[in-house]
Amino acid sequence: MCGIVGYVGPRPSQDILLAGLARLEYRGYDSAGVAVIDEDGSLGMRKKAGKLSALRDSLADAALPDGSTGIGHTRWATHGGPTDVNAHPHLADEDRLALIHNGIIENFATLRDELAADGVSFRSETDTEVAAALLGREYRGNGGDLQLAFRNVVNRLEGAFTLLAMHQDHPGLVVGARRNSPLVIGLGEGENFLGSDVAAFVEHTRKALAIGQDQIVSITPDAVTVTDFAGTPVEAEPFDVSWDAAAAEKGGWSSFMAKEVAEQPEAVANTIRGRIQGDRVVIPELDGLDDLFTGINRVIITACGTASYAALVGKYAIEQWARVPVDVELAHEFRYRDPVIGDDTLVVSISQSGETMDTLMAVKYARERGARTLSICNTQGATIPRESDAVVYTHAGPEVAVASTKAFSAQITALLLLGLHMGRVRGSITDASVDVAELAALPEKIAKVLETENDHVSQLAGWMADTRSVLFLGRHVGYPIALEGALKLKEISYIHAEGFAAGELKHGPIALIEPGQPVFVLVPSPRHSALVHSKVVSNIQEIRARGARVIVVAEEGDAAVLPFADEVIRIPLAGPMFEPLLAVVPLQVFAMALATAKGLDVDQPRNLAKSVTVE
Ligand code: AGP
Ligand code: GLU
Repeated sequence: MCGIVGYVGPRPSQDILLAGLARLEYRGYDSAGVAVIDEDGSLGMRKKAGKLSALRDSLADAALPDGSTGIGHTRWATHGGPTDVNAHPHLADEDRLALIHNGIIENFATLRDELAADGVSFRSETDTEVAAALLGREYRGNGGDLQLAFRNVVNRLEGAFTLLAMHQDHPGLVVGARRNSPLVIGLGEGENFLGSDVAAFVEHTRKALAIGQDQIVSITPDAVTVTDFAGTPVEAEPFDVSWDAAAAEKGGWSSFMAKEVAEQPEAVANTIRGRIQGDRVVIPELDGLDDLFTGINRVIITACGTASYAALVGKYAIEQWARVPVDVELAHEFRYRDPVIGDDTLVVSISQSGETMDTLMAVKYARERGARTLSICNTQGATIPRESDAVVYTHAGPEVAVASTKAFSAQITALLLLGLHMGRVRGSITDASVDVAELAALPEKIAKVLETENDHVSQLAGWMADTRSVLFLGRHVGYPIALEGALKLKEISYIHAEGFAAGELKHGPIALIEPGQPVFVLVPSPRHSALVHSKVVSNIQEIRARGARVIVVAEEGDAAVLPFADEVIRIPLAGPMFEPLLAVVPLQVFAMALATAKGLDVDQPRNLAKSVTVE
């Protein structure tokens, strides 16, 4: 978790670091800190518990001296609470060296004992300070060779880490390394950057280099060198950042989440763009890779959280169109059992960040077991696509709010594209013209839901601000949307919420229904299946009979639900696989409006971080 930024160049680094941290703050916001080496070659450091604003206030009260070499960190605590002392950077070598870290150093206790026996005393409870102290010892033991010392340190660490370090004896040099945690390089003119992701430096440069696993990087204002952990030079892969700086700004919106919900028509349109030719779906990135889809007899989609609900929609679509069995597994469950997979299995991973550790480990495991791997990812240069045989990027643009919204819509869109592509390649679809037209019409329909339902749903949320629990029911592709609606509400409004398959309710959860219990019901179109529609209507009656307050999400013109609904939210007509993209929108708006009515920070909910880079 956590955001990391590094800078070397001619400019004062402090503002650059703070701006980079502001863009990365979604990654963790327990505490933040910066260190700079000033013109006189001395190291200054400030760190504060709380959000980045606490650090900013502290620096506004008493600035650090200007310095053009610096590192900055926003933390999501794993070892030791979110206090000033546990915040990063951590210092060593008589406070002349500063180090920041993302991840968990699993052998920190052994190393800590070893260093303590050597007379080192520690100020914090973190695993990170051990790496700083070790670097200090290696630095002194190797005649002040920072790069060699750093290499020795990373070779002793176990676990997941991105580390950046600098020493006041070496102004103009920041060293970094990564193992299973993210780090990318931004290439400027006479200045260079390091960041957890490109958002850290996108306002300064859109030229970037991706760093592989177990690699070390040194940046100076004029040069970038990348080696493996043994010190052998390696080529870093250049890429152009397609996001622009403005895309990662809040603009006039009250929150990033509000902006990102509103951006969904565009996110879906951008994900479709260039992938429809006439009445066919053609995914250029998958050219020449037909074997990924024909040489298999099974698909497993793996992901976490919201992405796993997109995966469930993907299961319905891929099975329907490509006629291949699809299972969906939470990445952390898939990884630690003994699944039956091999080269007849395609493992599709889904991740907005491309850095979720649970998902990354599942992808690596699938590859080790001989499966083919394809990732659906929103972030260029991220680790998961680099570890996969193929990637289909979603083009949702940067998603900053912790609660995923536009990335979810883009993930479902990519899965629909993938399902139609696979169906064509496998010969199970001969005419996709209707579905392709449905896809192309989605952005406009999502925009319509936003336009027509926003006020009504927000008003509903306002009335329900004191509600203690909300349930969500759906069938077929409505089921994953019920799960997603509940997760959104839990995440940002801290209200107990559960999503259920509507048919499952009578097997237990119906006991939760008491008079006044709000229940959202996602009603599928009767045009798709009169039978499924009627089953959902029966489920509505069952809960109404027990006093539930029923809020129905149903397509325009579905009059059958009216007698049983306390509130009706309307969505436009859409094909069966396309409804989820419309039905989810009011649920996102509801969660956001309810959290806002409770006075909560919708972008940075408690205890969470955007990118979960620990297992
Ligand atoms: C969504 O609102 C969540 N914050 C979370 O479930 C998220 O979707 C999950 O952690 C997966 O993230 P990823 O897409 O970056 O892999
Ligand atoms: N394990 C470190 C800590 O708890 C780093 C956490 C992070 O990635 O923010 O400080």
